[in-house]
Amino acid sequence: MKVLGIESSCDETGVAVYDTGLAPDQALRAHHVYSQIALHAEYGGVVPELASRDHVRKLLPLVRQTLADAGLAPGELDGVAYTAGPGLVGALLVGAGVARSLAWALDVPAIGVHHMEGHLLAPLMEDDPPEPPFVALLVSGGHTQLVAVDRIGAYRLLGETLDDAAGEAFDKTAKLMGLPYPGGPQLAKLAEQGTPGRFRFARPMTDRPGLDFSFSGLKTQVLLAWRDSDQSETTRADIARGFEDAVVDTLAIKCERALDAAGCDTLVVAGGVGANRRLRAKLQEMAQRRGGRVCFPRPSLCTDNGAMIAFAGALRLEAGQHDDASVHVTPRWDM
Ligand code: KG4
Ligand code: ZN
Repeated sequence: MKVLGIESSCDETGVAVYDTGLAPDQALRAHHVYSQIALHAEYGGVVPELASRDHVRKLLPLVRQTLADAGLAPGELDGVAYTAGPGLVGALLVGAGVARSLAWALDVPAIGVHHMEGHLLAPLMEDDPPEPPFVALLVSGGHTQLVAVDRIGAYRLLGETLDDAAGEAFDKTAKLMGLPYPGGPQLAKLAEQGTPGRFRFARPMTDRPGLDFSFSGLKTQVLLAWRDSDQSETTRADIARGFEDAVVDTLAIKCERALDAAGCDTLVVAGGVGANRRLRAKLQEMAQRRGGRVCFPRPSLCTDNGAMIAFAGALRLEAGQHDDASVHVTPRWDM
């Protein structure tokens, strides 16, 4: 089945074609992501109305380009998948409108995909994919969740953040130390030059049982440390390192607990923060020590993309699911 995937839940326009008839290393026939970062940078964050308008501008050209790169005519598609939520309502409606219209014109089924299910299944597009049951750590700008995956489509929430998501904490912390939007990846880059241990921040909620997270207090600790410091470049890098180590340690501690609680030895990591190098190294180390396994998508499939939507949609369409013809999105939606 050749499925077109469209992602437009926030500030990235992603389009891909996934072909379930090909070997796993060939199945992603083409994928493109257009990032709106430059558009939103001067406002210090995503402006929802600008995001919607930019998706309108970019989506159809990107669909054309992706189909051309995949070597497919539109009529060769067997289905269209799109992100139906959660996300910004206007941005979601652009993707849903285009996807539904294309599906109707081509007389193929369309399916709305949960954005976080897309992230969760992204590691399964890589070589030697993990088989359920496994535990998934979903760490993005909007979510931080530990999920037990009993099988594809059967998910149990084990724990989640009570306030900021991990990516949101990265972004807000970067902003308060004067780094430009989007701060998360820049903060991580800065942390590479920082001295470990000069600033030590708490590992929130690790001193009590449970699998929930809380990252907003960490941000306040950084604010105080930064305010009372000499605010030099070296100090900024050292604080970035202290912050990153605190987040990474916290995530790793809770992942290990979740694996114990679920009786699993395979961990799957997905979402934008899954691109973080120190997090990847720390979880690898943990998996090795336990004799288990940790699976990540390549960094470009960690952040928002159309490939994960095409893939998740293809699995659902192959299972015989599809939506009715209405254009419908769900901006707030539990997985
Ligand atoms: O999954 P994603 O692309 O979009 C959402 O669905 O939210 O995740 C974006 C988040 C942002 O908060 C960004 O700062 C964070 O992922 N992020 C990172 C890194 N790359 C992206 N955080 C830490 N280290 C990184 N290397
Ligand atoms: Zn995302």
